[in-house]
Amino acid sequence: MENNTRGTWGTRIGFIAAAAGSAVGLGNIWKFPYITGMYGGAAFVIVYLLFVVLVCIPVMSSELLIGRLTSKNPVGAFKELAPKSSWWLVGAMGILAGFIILSFYSVIGGWAISYIFKSGAYMASGGENAANVFVGFITSPVAPLVWHAIFMAICIGIVMAGVEKGIEKYSKILMPALIVLMLILIIRSVTLPGSTAGLSFYLNPDFSKLSAEGILAALGQAFFSLSLGMGCMITYGSYLKKDSNIPTDSYWISGADTVIALLAGLMIFPAVFAFGLEPGAGPGLTFITVPAVFASMGAIGHFFGILFFTLLTFAAVTSAISLLEVVCAYFIDEAKWSRKKATVTMGIIIFLIGVPCSLGQGVWSHIKIIGGRDILDSLDFVASNIFLPLGGFLMLIFIGWFWGTDKAIKAGNEGAAKGGITLGSGYAFLVKYVAPIALIIVFIMKVMEF
Ligand code: PHE
Repeated sequence: MENNTRGTWGTRIGFIAAAAGSAVGLGNIWKFPYITGMYGGAAFVIVYLLFVVLVCIPVMSSELLIGRLTSKNPVGAFKELAPKSSWWLVGAMGILAGFIILSFYSVIGGWAISYIFKSGAYMASGGENAANVFVGFITSPVAPLVWHAIFMAICIGIVMAGVEKGIEKYSKILMPALIVLMLILIIRSVTLPGSTAGLSFYLNPDFSKLSAEGILAALGQAFFSLSLGMGCMITYGSYLKKDSNIPTDSYWISGADTVIALLAGLMIFPAVFAFGLEPGAGPGLTFITVPAVFASMGAIGHFFGILFFTLLTFAAVTSAISLLEVVCAYFIDEAKWSRKKATVTMGIIIFLIGVPCSLGQGVWSHIKIIGGRDILDSLDFVASNIFLPLGGFLMLIFIGWFWGTDKAIKAGNEGAAKGGITLGSGYAFLVKYVAPIALIIVFIMKVMEF
């Protein structure tokens, strides 16, 4: 049944831009460089790439084919494929994860937008006060909430405009812009005097630094970065036309996400080393260390600073709209809400859940929920480290052991080019054995971290 009120992607490239836009986000530009630095540089990258190929691409194809086959949101999709069972709960958990992730993601997205306008503040005194600027900002009660509201309003506006006229249209503009901005910054970064120390740190594999923990971090990061395990790709797949090429497009999306993560490292490490800063600074790497780099460049630093945070904002927006779309698609399909009602209502609720995350940086910083984590980190922990891997695992078990890989292969290969990439026995083996076992290991480790 073709459901015209739901919307579809206008073009193949538009779909790829939107799905890659979902994948490329704060996870790539902030987190990937930082954990790569922590776990041995190139050695970590090699393991990360293995996980992308062996685990994530099969999960990506699986989510997309479930979405396209059913033309439904994650809950509706599982209800259609496994009626009168509890599998729809997997979809429901994904939607809940979307709610939670977006609530804190939007707070950080707000920080990114506000930083477009903060070059004057962090450029003052040659970057010495970059840390004060950041801490002063995020601990203040009102300003971060205003930016959080602005970020959420932008997402609501885009998602309200619909699949083709909103998400696809903006992704097609923002994604190429992001790549151009990144290339400008990479050229600046690698041509700085003293940048080679950063390059060797990033590109020379040091396997001795790669711990078991690092291997697990690589798998978790691959999962989060590719927007998998919460039905995001089921939802985006549900707007695909039947002649779309899922096996090949899965490679394009995963490839784009991976390349942009790798480029983010190339953008950040040479500059950080050139200015003798600390590569493993965590959240501070993006909001303190990178501004300090710009501050030490003189007047031109304003320009690069504005460019960098514009880029970070673009990346965060195209990811955040995918999170909002997952939540809204559910209410549009299942509760028959209009798109406008769904986006505005859910956007406001998600904004409100984000408020304590923001206040938890300052006035409510004494509130610790999970293992000493503040409110924002606790929500991130529950959603990213528990819901996503569990959701991905259950999805693989569903396809591999209940619904059947034969049906999945048939559904996924519809529209695939003859002689090109198709799903086959390799896919079935990865879905049934390799990927779920890898996820069980990650999940056990994450739970033990609790
Ligand atoms: N992939 C996004 C990032 O790297 C985050 C995200 C996760 C988006 C899950 C949608 C779903 O920032």
